Amino acid sequence: MAAHHRNHNVVIITLLILIFSNFIVLSTSQSQSDAQILQRFKQSLQNTNALSTWDNGGPPCNGDQELWNGVLCENGTVWGLQVENMGLGGVIDVDTLAELRSLRAISFMNNNFEGSLPDLSKLGALKSIYLSNNKFSGEIPGYTFNGMLSLKKIYLANNRFSGSIPVSFTTLPRLIELRLEDNDFEGNIPVFGQEKLNNFNVSNNELVGPIPDSLSHISASAFSGNRDLCGAPLQSCKKSKLPIVTTIIVAIVVAAALAALVAVFIILRRRKQTPEQPQTTNSAGSASSAATAADIDRMEQGQTGSSSPDHGNKKAESVKLTFLKDDRQKFDMTDLLKASAEILGSGVFGSTYKAALNDGQAMAVKRYKHMNNVSKEEFHEHMRRLGRMNHENVLPIVAFYYRKEEKLLVTDFVENVSLAVHLHGNKSRGLPAPNWPTRLNIVKGVAKGLKYLYTELPSLTAPHGHLKSSNVLLDRTFNPLLTDYGLVPVVNQEQAQEHMIAYKSPEYKHNNRITKKTDIWSFGILILEILTGRFPANFLQQGRGSDTDITTWVESVVRDESNVDVFDGDMEGTKHCEGEMMKLLKIGLSCCQADVEKRPDIKEVVEKIEEIKEKDVDDEFYSTVSDGDVRSSRGLSDDLGHVTFK
Ligand SMILES: *[C@@H]1O[C@H](CO)[C@@H](O)[C@H](O)[C@H]1NC(C)=O
Ligand SMILES: *[C@@H]1O[C@H](CO)[C@@H](O)[C@H](O)[C@H]1NC(C)=O
Repeated sequence: MAAHHRNHNVVIITLLILIFSNFIVLSTSQSQSDAQILQRFKQSLQNTNALSTWDNGGPPCNGDQELWNGVLCENGTVWGLQVENMGLGGVIDVDTLAELRSLRAISFMNNNFEGSLPDLSKLGALKSIYLSNNKFSGEIPGYTFNGMLSLKKIYLANNRFSGSIPVSFTTLPRLIELRLEDNDFEGNIPVFGQEKLNNFNVSNNELVGPIPDSLSHISASAFSGNRDLCGAPLQSCKKSKLPIVTTIIVAIVVAAALAALVAVFIILRRRKQTPEQPQTTNSAGSASSAATAADIDRMEQGQTGSSSPDHGNKKAESVKLTFLKDDRQKFDMTDLLKASAEILGSGVFGSTYKAALNDGQAMAVKRYKHMNNVSKEEFHEHMRRLGRMNHENVLPIVAFYYRKEEKLLVTDFVENVSLAVHLHGNKSRGLPAPNWPTRLNIVKGVAKGLKYLYTELPSLTAPHGHLKSSNVLLDRTFNPLLTDYGLVPVVNQEQAQEHMIAYKSPEYKHNNRITKKTDIWSFGILILEILTGRFPANFLQQGRGSDTDITTWVESVVRDESNVDVFDGDMEGTKHCEGEMMKLLKIGLSCCQADVEKRPDIKEVVEKIEEIKEKDVDDEFYSTVSDGDVRSSRGLSDDLGHVTFK
């Protein structure tokens, strides 16, 4: 009875200790006080006279009281750094700052920092970033802010930033203030969808094109002083301009069409066949800009004009999509162009758009750069393989478009966005977090989908290769669909190593190799993320990062596992389920083991997961916990506490 239950726990605990004792030792020997971390941080700064209190030998905080200049304290830890108007320069050492576990806000406003923006993605938990009034310069990579799900306020005004506005701003679910005025940003304003974004300013940059509708409620002065912005709240755009996204796609199509036209032109001349092709050949022959304009005009006419855009039109033919599914209704690039497109998000390999076709069918179009090292034949062959996938938990690729420099993969649009959004963004969207039965169902579906990929793609070392919560899409009934799978062979090695999850595994870090069990490792991390609601931000970091990053994350789960809070506090439906939840946690942990040999294989994982029930079956278990929510009950946590630490 109770003893049985206790024994059961002891087994689990012993396992956990065995598996993770090395991590725990690692972390305790590494942990440093806020004071030590800050002093190290200070070393890379210049002109630090204003920070002399940092050398007083004591701690930075006493409870909520700040003992050092420029720190913000709560409960004896530093949650913010506010070093403004101090004439500071030098390097902002984000790697060291990342060690401050409670850091949520940084301000370096009104100083003399220069050079490119520090890699803020290493500070994944920040809520506010204030860097205005410095001399930062250069382009900000588009993905910089990906995954910073807590970020609410970003101040980069009055620097010398150039290039495009990073599109990752549009993916921050909680963004309410974004100040970019007085820089040299150029190009279009990306489409911001955040409803709460109200303090927004991009005035005095070099921006052009239409202001997205979602920003039309912002006052006009926020857009003044740019090169050529139009649309509400400024004057309406002259011609009916194409939406931004369409413009991007048009650019691709036009480039491809031009190449094709030249080819057609040559062939026609050789054959000395048709004497007529007056307008198109002329425009292609003269100047490319004229051809571009003509093309866009034609596309626009196609939008309202004849219903068969491809009748006798060489261009439309040249940009045909390659369909991988026979049973699907065909459409081509022109149809996608006519469709109203909206940007869904941007990942490290490119952006994803939603395009609704005339018949109401919605498609997702994902643009990939960094796939140009494989030949056209290889690429086609590989796509045909992926196109054969047919499983309820795997999102099939419907069609693709090949150009040397970039590829478009077309899939069905999936109603309920990604698991990542539901796990981490629902609060800000005013929606409840997924409950336990839903989460369990998602884990089971992912397991089945993964097993299917292992069976169908046996020649791939990591059949998925990029398994993470943002690549698990949810359909109307919250069934999971895996996407972005099977791409390891076609992504350029350099980018694969930089970005793909398989290459962040312990085995790749230590032995430069990925194995059949590498996807199991990512699945383990995913299970922990689903159960704890904690975001493994280190996944998104560029490059190999530090090996301790993700293990530290896992270890933080293990550490809190002795705590009542290990399971996501927003997860409902957990009453009388704690035993089953623990079982799943244990499976997740066993999948994340650094030692590849000790990890279970896919068959084992699927079997074990299938055994997990929504509710605990052992009735006696209930008698040991109170009737309330399990997380506020004693029992389990006490047991763990005793065994682990006594
Ligand atoms: C600070 O400590 C108080 C009392 O111990 C606690 O209620 C509060 O949640 C703590 N705040 C943080 C941010 O840890
Ligand atoms: C935007 O910034 C400019 C330049 O600093 C300022 O003049 C303008 O009033 C600001 N507008 C809003 C809405 O913040």
